[in-house]
Amino acid sequence: MLEKRAAEFQLDEEVREKTVKEPFDSQYRCGALLGSGGFGSVFSGQRLCDGLQVAIKQISSDRVQQWARLPGEVGPVPMEIALLQRLAEVGGHGGVVRMLDWFEVEGRGFLLVMERPPHGQDLFDFITERGALPERLTLRFFRQIVEGLRFLHAHGVVHRDIKDENIVVDTRTLDVKIIDFGSGAPLKETPYSEFEGTLGLQPPEWIVSQAYEAVPLTVWSLGVLLFDMVCGDIPFERDQDIVAAAPVFTRRVSKECQSLIRWCLSYRPEERPTLEEILSHPWMGGGEAEEEEEEHSSLPSQSL
Ligand SMILES: Nc1ncnc2c1ncn2[C@@H]1O[C@H](COP(=O)(O)OP(=O)(O)OP(=O)(O)O)[C@@H](O)[C@H]1O
Ligand SMILES: [Mg+2]
Repeated sequence: MLEKRAAEFQLDEEVREKTVKEPFDSQYRCGALLGSGGFGSVFSGQRLCDGLQVAIKQISSDRVQQWARLPGEVGPVPMEIALLQRLAEVGGHGGVVRMLDWFEVEGRGFLLVMERPPHGQDLFDFITERGALPERLTLRFFRQIVEGLRFLHAHGVVHRDIKDENIVVDTRTLDVKIIDFGSGAPLKETPYSEFEGTLGLQPPEWIVSQAYEAVPLTVWSLGVLLFDMVCGDIPFERDQDIVAAAPVFTRRVSKECQSLIRWCLSYRPEERPTLEEILSHPWMGGGEAEEEEEEHSSLPSQSL
């Protein structure tokens, strides 16, 4: 059923009209570089008709690993565009970046235009600037991320590269959004046999048997991310530490939070929680996180 849903990538009327739309240059202005990585570069930009702040991702065709067909399009498009298109069609979600538009640049690649939070900073930079985050703030971010992932899975999309660099924080509202679907895939119930996420963030089952399933992979990456937020760095980098699956806490972290991290980082995929089980874990209720915050509230650097 999931496979069937994932295969139903369809275009709405607005996108069918793409062939007659205005060219990129007459609709958007490109600004400063925001970041670059495996698939291309991301720039800040502006929509000329109303001044909306956007992010523009340049995707070079020669770096794209997975392609998809969209109805009404002559050629294939990068999977990243097809996945974001699917999510836009079902109305989007506050915890997931929204694609506003996309363009094919003849012979060069694709431009993906997406929303950009007005005071956006990626979570990697956010943690680098501030160090380990207080549990209450971590909880606020983590809940939004888990909700965003539930939305993705409910609509047949698996992200496969959840990590701090792929989360954007609006530093005024403290709302977060999942970005970067460059490693994403249609969600399926059977195992995946290719890993396109970040090295060092692969789960033990990938290291041991070069296979993983979507939900346990996602939950492993959530364990790594939660540890990263409360300790200021990821728990493991070497394969031998990943397969040992025994995080060593480098800071004072509440027992409830440690228990959730350890559960997500269970060596056996079938022992990890589901997204729903994460949401009903006692730490998600906020009790110990609140106490933590009170303990630290006199420290200015922890006062977010
Ligand atoms: N919508 C956005 N709003 C604000 N900043 C963004 C946005 N999209 C991307 N960025 C910034 O640009 C960086 C790179 O973007 P992204 O993660 O999509 O590309 P990438 O890592 O090169 O992609 P890939 O993993 O597909 O190679 C992000 O880490 C973030 O700092
Ligand atoms: Mg990225």
